Amino acid sequence: MTRTAAVVPAAGRGERLGPGAPKALRQIGGVPMLVHAVRALAAARSVDVVVVAAPPDDVAAVEALLADHDVPAEVSVVPGGATRQDSVRRAVQSLSEDVDVVLVHDAARPLAPVELVDAVAAAVRAGADAVVPVLPVADTVKQVAADRVVATLDRSVLRAVQTPQGFRRAVLAHAHALADGLDSTDDAGLVEAIGTGVATIAGSSEAFKVTRPIDLLLAEALLAHRRGSGVR
Ligand code: CTP
Ligand code: MG
Repeated sequence: MTRTAAVVPAAGRGERLGPGAPKALRQIGGVPMLVHAVRALAAARSVDVVVVAAPPDDVAAVEALLADHDVPAEVSVVPGGATRQDSVRRAVQSLSEDVDVVLVHDAARPLAPVELVDAVAAAVRAGADAVVPVLPVADTVKQVAADRVVATLDRSVLRAVQTPQGFRRAVLAHAHALADGLDSTDDAGLVEAIGTGVATIAGSSEAFKVTRPIDLLLAEALLAHRRGSGVR
């Protein structure tokens, strides 16, 4: 029997959010962001096990937090690393042998819909080596150098990329090992770097990343809306 794991990089400091606790531990609707993210993964039928990469000093605190909040899945916590890439690598290395599909999902995307999680897993189970959820880009995007515009990019061929991203475990592990020196803001970037194809599926505006203070306001509002309409 094979299983699907969800790996949650949650070891970042959240510097762009401003002073305060590590970002994953900041609360939305009174519940830490990390707990929201883990609940969404655990609620997905496709996910069997969740591994969180926590800030190294907060491993015990995160274990206690997850034990306190109801999470309907097998969850373990490992110490994260200095970069997101390190954190993901450590979590993937901790997975048991029977895991053959891995989803990687940012703790900083606390309100990603369960349906998106299942859709990503299904795309890998259907044969994709790697799959990423994408959205069209709303703004005009320009390339700049030294504060001067160099070019206006063709927005119609650009996509903003979200998580969860899904991978055959062997492909993800291989990409992390081979592309070790490379600095990538997502895992699919490493897979691309080793020449393996990455598929796309439709993303969700609700899977937005909490990066700056205004994103917290949006997350609070979305959560209040969901609670008001009885979704969660
Ligand atoms: N992350 C991680 N380990 C790190 C750095 C980041 O696990 N060493 C995680 C974050 O916790 C987050 C995800 O990677 O869930 C996406 O990163 P980002 O949004 O950049 O979060 P932070 O690095 O915490 O924020 P900032 O860059 O503003 O400091
Ligand atoms: Mg960061």
